[in-house]
Amino acid sequence: MKNILITGGAGFIGSHVVRLFVNQYPPYNIINLDSLTYAGNLENLKDIENSPNYIFIKGDICNEQLIDTVFKEQQVTDVIHLAAESHVDRSIKDPLSFVQTNVFGTVNLLNAAMNAWKENVTEHIFFHVSTDEVYGSLDEDGYFLETTPYDPQSPYSASKAGSDHFVRAWANTYKLPIKITNCSNNYGPNQFPEKLIPLMINNIKNNKPLPVYGKGENVRDWLYVIDHARAIDEVFHRGKPGETYNVGGFNEWKNIDIVRLLCGVMDRKLGRPEGESAKLITFVTDRAGHDLRYAIDASKIMNDLGWKPSLQFEEGLEKTVDWYLRNGEWLEHVTSGAYQQYYQQHYGG
Ligand code: NAD
Ligand code: DAU
Repeated sequence: MKNILITGGAGFIGSHVVRLFVNQYPPYNIINLDSLTYAGNLENLKDIENSPNYIFIKGDICNEQLIDTVFKEQQVTDVIHLAAESHVDRSIKDPLSFVQTNVFGTVNLLNAAMNAWKENVTEHIFFHVSTDEVYGSLDEDGYFLETTPYDPQSPYSASKAGSDHFVRAWANTYKLPIKITNCSNNYGPNQFPEKLIPLMINNIKNNKPLPVYGKGENVRDWLYVIDHARAIDEVFHRGKPGETYNVGGFNEWKNIDIVRLLCGVMDRKLGRPEGESAKLITFVTDRAGHDLRYAIDASKIMNDLGWKPSLQFEEGLEKTVDWYLRNGEWLEHVTSGAYQQYYQQHYGG
């Protein structure tokens, strides 16, 4: 019997993880704890909200009393921790909220887990979902391995690196059984349209300029979100306690190439003349301290656990575009109000 606390389950990746665990493991109770920031949205989980093995609790991971109570009342046996401030551009404008949620919130969860599990700590798992950005930025060659030294470059990645160090410190000092994954860029349904792919889809749809930072030469390594959720499932069930697993699809793209590819897909789907959407591409001021390249070596999770991505990128991108075009109402809900203000402040115009 497992009562798994999933934090950040109303967000992009969290909602796919919650859905996978609720549907795939009926004997588990899944407790989704999320404070519903701008990035959290219960519409992401409409299809499973009435499942008998699922409950939602609205709450902040930084609230010490609440988290202790949740551990006690729900008899939490394991944690999969995804709640975080996740957008690099926002971390440049407001670093403190990243320190608060990503560092303090993680430590608060670690403390609560130890308080609740101290009698039989080895029977539990604290799974921390992290990012490849903790390793820093690569030049044209090489990959991030699990052994690559940490070298975070943005307030976001520094806060995630900090949280990873605290998780490992709890394993070393208090013998908390932990697992950590460091994943590359995710894309797919339900991603908030402040991130590259959904922002471009939304702007192409609305004939708005497509803001490419710098020359668009930066490289990211893209993975379909459901493949990330499958990797978390594998590591949770079969990964070794104390270990770190890098997750990625060996799928590197320059930003400008992705934007051009998306323009072509959207022209076809919207019945526009070929080349029409690409006219919207606009090169804008670069992100401060913009990491040049991320590339994950995912050999360990592939060899040790047999995980591999299920989709080619072009196929995943088609599915993603189809989802956004079918879910115009979702997109309208999340881009009303506060999003307009954010967009205005960040991109102007
Ligand atoms: P997201 O921004 O879409 O969702 C974050 C969720 O956390 C939201 O539902 C939000 O309401 C919730 N949250 C934020 N602060 C909270 C708090 N104080 N208490 C409780 N809930 C809070 O993020 P995402 O892209 O789904 O990322 C999820 C996790 O995966 C993060 O830890 C992120 O660092 C990591 N990650 C993301 C990517 C990616 O490409 N998006 C890649 C690798 C790792
Ligand atoms: O690598 C994993 C990380 O990927 C996660 O840990 C983060 O939570 C997630 O946000 C993502 O970070 P990035 O900064 O790589 O993602 P983003 O979608 O913001 O940007 C992708 C690339 O596109 C990056 O090089 C910046 C560029 N970009 C982004 C936006 C929003 C643009 O050129 N224009 C834009 O408007």
